Amino acid sequence: MEKRKNVLSCIQPTGDMHYGNYFGAVKNWVQLQEQYDCTYGVVDYHAMTMPYDPKKLRNNTWELIFNLMAVGVKPENLFIQSLVPEHSELGWIFNCFTPFGLASRMTQFKDKSAQNNEQGSDDSISVGLFDYPILQAADILIYNADYVPVGKDQQQHLELSRSIAKRFNNKVGKEYFVMPEALYTDVPKLMSPADPTKKMGKSLGVKHYISLFADDARIKKQIKSAVTDTGDTPAGEISPGIANLFELLKACGKMEAHDSLMEDHLSGSLKYVDLKEAVAEAVLELSTGFRARKAELQANKKEIKSQIKASSAEIRKKAQQTLKEVKELTGLMNVRF
Ligand code: TRP
Repeated sequence: MEKRKNVLSCIQPTGDMHYGNYFGAVKNWVQLQEQYDCTYGVVDYHAMTMPYDPKKLRNNTWELIFNLMAVGVKPENLFIQSLVPEHSELGWIFNCFTPFGLASRMTQFKDKSAQNNEQGSDDSISVGLFDYPILQAADILIYNADYVPVGKDQQQHLELSRSIAKRFNNKVGKEYFVMPEALYTDVPKLMSPADPTKKMGKSLGVKHYISLFADDARIKKQIKSAVTDTGDTPAGEISPGIANLFELLKACGKMEAHDSLMEDHLSGSLKYVDLKEAVAEAVLELSTGFRARKAELQANKKEIKSQIKASSAEIRKKAQQTLKEVKELTGLMNVRF
């Protein structure tokens, strides 16, 4: 049998998981497991690059592990980055293969540091934030990933990974690293229910995302109070709020309801309450399942934690093998004590 291709992706532990994360990335992770050898990391080293609370980081990391498992990521595919310290070691080596000018062109760094500057907190822009895409290259290349499912916002970082792989290969005179390719899938772009002109996300505040694990009352309330029409949408066009509700309904797989309500919309007879009710029902159906699975997992917290430590140790073996070869190729000492 032909060897399955490797897929690698990572996510930062930054608290709650919402439907933007789920439909934008994590649902795809779950599906890719059927076709590929998948490795998925919860990247806590990355989470240190922005101001963060050490008391919360470890909890957030475990929380995200439970969330990922609750939606169907297999535990044997999951690892926690700081349990595989070879990522940071390879990151260091890659630092030395990355031209400063190339790293300086990363737009995400420019955007994030500009944001911090505006808030007058220049000291909070760490060298780690600047270095982050190089650590990301290590995350990817250490497992010889063929494909990396990412959002378009990560395109430049993936290009950087390829460029680092190329430079490394040139330097050591060998096609050592596999060139990773981005795997873009058609994902719905979900907007904030409270401000449908902005992307659903945590940075805007709790009103702006629908949590996967929120209780029914909260989800109902958020959908009921979602912004629909602010009155400035030209006739014949769909307002961002209504478009977002339709998008959410479609993402939940309710095509029949979607199409029939869309017909109503096109003929001018759509009642917003009907649309909202359909959306709430679809989202609650999913969340009910997710919450139940998370509760089951949480009832076995200890076992799950040891399972993830064991899978991290297993995945670490691959990282150690890569690092051993990299040290050999780069002239570093290579002794196991
Ligand atoms: N930079 C990614 C994000 O913020 C997270 C990430 C870290 C990642 N390492 C990765 C994604 C490796 C894909 C592959 O979303």
